[in-house]
Amino acid sequence: MKAQLVLPAAGQGLRLGAGQPKALASLGGRALLIHTLSRFAPLGLVRTAVILAPAGHTETYEALLGEFFPGHACTVLEGGAERQASVERGIAALEGETDIVVIHDAARPFPPEQAVREAMEAANGEYDGATVALPCADTILVGDTEQLLRHTPERRYMWACQTPQVFPVAVIRAAHERARTEGFQATDDASLVQRMGGRVKLVHGSPLNFKVTSAADLALAEAVYGNALA
Ligand code: C5P
Repeated sequence: MKAQLVLPAAGQGLRLGAGQPKALASLGGRALLIHTLSRFAPLGLVRTAVILAPAGHTETYEALLGEFFPGHACTVLEGGAERQASVERGIAALEGETDIVVIHDAARPFPPEQAVREAMEAANGEYDGATVALPCADTILVGDTEQLLRHTPERRYMWACQTPQVFPVAVIRAAHERARTEGFQATDDASLVQRMGGRVKLVHGSPLNFKVTSAADLALAEAVYGNALA
């Protein structure tokens, strides 16, 4: 089984307000991108990783990768306007003999290794894909446009979506192509596979696999990293 990593890192980081792409934000003096990518080294997924960068930043990313992963042949490509477009560009660039693709947000610096392995096994076995996710501790409320409570789904079936999401290459390419043709936009990739009838396994993630979005998240990530909690 040959696996490749696709790392969408083309977000502008506007909610972080640092005036630079989020993946370049400093965590313990090192770019978030480098932290996240390092987590995939034990899985042998750094060498052939495909990384999506915001327009105008591909060279910065390449220089950074050259510094921290010398001799590795990571590919840096320009991402799209939305995450979905960035991922579609990434999966189009995979090597011909790749069986499964591991898609992970650069903005999640602490993916739990065991869950990643489980998701890879599921996607390489009896499922059409797998996503790392976290059972919701909070009750989820569905509101409407006027901020009125519309519906309260049963909590035991609620999961917060995380990444990595892992898929056989042919499955995820077909799902993206269909979504694009039908003008469907999602904030993750597993939903694209599920909407065309695919069976996607939910794999238990970790609260520490949070996405760095705001300055508060970055402070939390500093604490996790500084105290070696993940
Ligand atoms: O926007 P959000 O924070 O949910 O993004 C999740 C991941 O998708 C981040 O790692 C971000 O860099 C990436 N992204 C991307 N291309 C975009 C928007 C977001 O690769 N156009």
